[in-house]
Amino acid sequence: MGKHIGILTAGGDSPGLNAAIRAIGKAARSFQDTDVIGFRDGFRGMMENRTVRLTSEMLSGILTIGGTILGTSRDKPHRMPVGGKLMDMTDVIVANYEKHLLDALICLGGGGTLKNALHLKNAGLNIITLPKTIDNDVAMTDAAFGFDTALGIATEAIDRLHSTAHSHHRIIVVEIMGHRAGWLALGAGIAGGADVILIPEIPYHVETIADAIRQRSVSGKHFSIVAVAEGAVAHEYAAQIAATEAALAKAKTDGEKSAKKAAKAKLRELEAQHAGNTLRLAQRLEELTGLETRLTILGHLQRGGAPSAADRLLATQLGTEAIRLACKDIFGVMVAKQGAETRAVPLEEVAGQLKTVPLHHEWIESARRVGTSLGD
Ligand code: F6P
Repeated sequence: MGKHIGILTAGGDSPGLNAAIRAIGKAARSFQDTDVIGFRDGFRGMMENRTVRLTSEMLSGILTIGGTILGTSRDKPHRMPVGGKLMDMTDVIVANYEKHLLDALICLGGGGTLKNALHLKNAGLNIITLPKTIDNDVAMTDAAFGFDTALGIATEAIDRLHSTAHSHHRIIVVEIMGHRAGWLALGAGIAGGADVILIPEIPYHVETIADAIRQRSVSGKHFSIVAVAEGAVAHEYAAQIAATEAALAKAKTDGEKSAKKAAKAKLRELEAQHAGNTLRLAQRLEELTGLETRLTILGHLQRGGAPSAADRLLATQLGTEAIRLACKDIFGVMVAKQGAETRAVPLEEVAGQLKTVPLHHEWIESARRVGTSLGD
């Protein structure tokens, strides 16, 4: 008897999602009687039972299109805003899975989706996930689709900023996505030849950055490009975060409720302080160097538009493999890319793991070798 497979896209959108949906839908067709239904808007649409049948018309012409034809949301099954409250809607999602007689649910998403997928696996569903994120921070896979496209967009932006920075003898600070991992800023910074690259993994000293820029001026280069990941922070701030996280961990171990509450409130306060950090950095660099400075925030431009050839390939490879696994009854896994191969990684091993940039990663070493300042 044929299988029934559900599919949803969750978390921030990412170029290559439609290529993966197409791959799953088309591969399912080539396995006799396997049909696929899509749930709209991630886990919320599954909870509300909003579905769409993935007919061949729906799958046609979407390989090259950005976004996701299914829509997406960041809602979690066990903490879903319903009627102004956060509710555990896991049972409703399980009931809808059963109602559609599903044999498996394929979830396309990043780190948050992996945790939600593991939660649903533990609730008894047959789950397979595919890694997508422009942040490249999903562990145990060499690549997640979306990253390569975003890397190309951010690199092209730096290329364009170079000529205007050069003409006006300015510093241009360019903010690149990545709250917790600096892959995108580092990759685009290197590929675009940024003079300074700041990532969350390496806290910076603003004086060090200003010195690097002044040295360029001394050598006759009166402009600089500073590529900054959203989550890059100064040393002092990183130290405050680390101390507060340590206090929170201690309060948890000691079971001290008021200390725990205070540490959580402090963390929220610190997070709020971070807003506008890149603008303040740009202003400070102008003060310290005397060079006119401009800020460009690339924002969601990095997530939009057509996927690159590499992301289309990756999404097709992972999507078709998901169907092969489902037809062999292999569930509870993320389809990872490791070398040229795909590998089914158990959700327990990958959920909750964050792939940050290792401090001695080859990209970091090569950035330093070409004289790029990392602000440390
Ligand atoms: O997709 C991941 C990511 O792009 C982060 O780098 C970024 O901080 C975040 O999403 C912003 O997404 P949204 O505006 O959708 O919340």
